Amino acid sequence: MQSKRQKQFYDKCSMLGFNIDKQYYWYHTINLGNELITPGVFDFRGNIAKYFFLENMHGVSILDVGAATGFFSFEFARRGAMVTATELPSLLELDTFPGQNIKDVLNKATKHASGYVYQKPEQLDSELLYKLLLLEPFTFCNQHLELKIPRRFVNIYNFSEETLGQPAFDWVFIGDVLLHTIDPFKALASAAKMCSNTLVIAQHISDSPDDRPLMLYIGGDNLEDDVSAWWRPNLSWFQHVLKKLGFRSIEVVGGFNDKYLPNGNSESKTVIHARR
Ligand SMILES: C[S@@+](CC[C@H](N)C(=O)[O-])C[C@H]1O[C@@H](n2cnc3c(N)ncnc32)[C@H](O)[C@@H]1O
Repeated sequence: MQSKRQKQFYDKCSMLGFNIDKQYYWYHTINLGNELITPGVFDFRGNIAKYFFLENMHGVSILDVGAATGFFSFEFARRGAMVTATELPSLLELDTFPGQNIKDVLNKATKHASGYVYQKPEQLDSELLYKLLLLEPFTFCNQHLELKIPRRFVNIYNFSEETLGQPAFDWVFIGDVLLHTIDPFKALASAAKMCSNTLVIAQHISDSPDDRPLMLYIGGDNLEDDVSAWWRPNLSWFQHVLKKLGFRSIEVVGGFNDKYLPNGNSESKTVIHARR
């Protein structure tokens, strides 16, 4: 069933004469102007200051890793940055637990997503789901905001000059992506090598009883568990690994409780800046 926010969005789209597929999954809440606001399941607008991005990003290149609906990419562009947004090339590239079949994982994701995209699970294959979840909502906003942010469809493990079109970016932003990687070392190292100045990581991190660098495993103990999330490192893990990856200063600059709007559940998110 459509929520009130979703209905308002699509009613407004019709009023403005936009041809929009009503089945998109909106991850981010994005103000597109003319009182048109995407009905995202997260709304980071009130907490954007807690990421401590530069107010003026003119002349700054930034890589938005796993941009999803693109809220952060659009914000960077508004501040004047040269933005490149990345996304997975296909849902079939999502990490799985060894022995787990990606098709089974996607079947589960499909059932979950069908509640948001008003489509019966059996009508959603991985290609359609990809289109409705990741490909087209960003494109819609990019066009509507009259931005031409380039997108690169590359798995985080495969970042390189060749796949991203330039040798490095001044800033690299990794918001809630590492938890979806089964090998966060490899993923973080791959993204870090593309960063020449400041790497921003924003995600839930594990509380720690002491200063040892630890990662909490959150993938469950059977193949049926929802395993789209694997690891939750603690701050000391980030400090050690980022130092080893060549960052001189690693600092927690902010944090806030982010709320999953459909059920109101919230968790604390930490924002880390690592500088070369
Ligand atoms: C939870 S969303 C986070 C969206 C946004 N970065 C934010 O901070 O709000 C995770 C994003 O990472 C992408 N993603 C998941 N696994 C990935 C991988 N292995 N390589 C690149 N992107 C990945 C997803 O498709 C999605 O766009």
